[in-house]
Amino acid sequence: MDATEKELLELSQQLLNSIDQQDWDAYTKLCDADLTAFEPEGVGNIIKGMAFHKFYFDLESSGLPKQSNISSPLVRVIGDCAVITYIRVCQRLNADGGVPSSAFEETRIWEKQNGVWKHIHFHRSPPGA
Ligand code: GLY
Repeated sequence: MDATEKELLELSQQLLNSIDQQDWDAYTKLCDADLTAFEPEGVGNIIKGMAFHKFYFDLESSGLPKQSNISSPLVRVIGDCAVITYIRVCQRLNADGGVPSSAFEETRIWEKQNGVWKHIHFHRSPPGA
């Protein structure tokens, strides 16, 4: 894995951390304002822009720990764009003391804009869907 691929992987982990920690400032710094997405929360609709995502960041935090791990990543740089695909393994502590894990297939697209990588599109699906 070369330095650019490592950087993109690190940025992707930072993005997942910002989601888990409901850190809107960190999330918006990593994303293009016109971010597009397919994710289960969109129930089949393409999501464009940041407002849909902000709803979840604004919810009151449970205060319970959770984290996302990037498993089996593939990084492909194509000029000023990059495709990163991996399995996102999520761990969290529930209020009842349970510690369930869940997983998703994620593909995230990044574009270098004025020398800075910005997240421009993603697709998240349950594994095998
Ligand atoms: N739902 C926000 C994200 O996965 O980027």
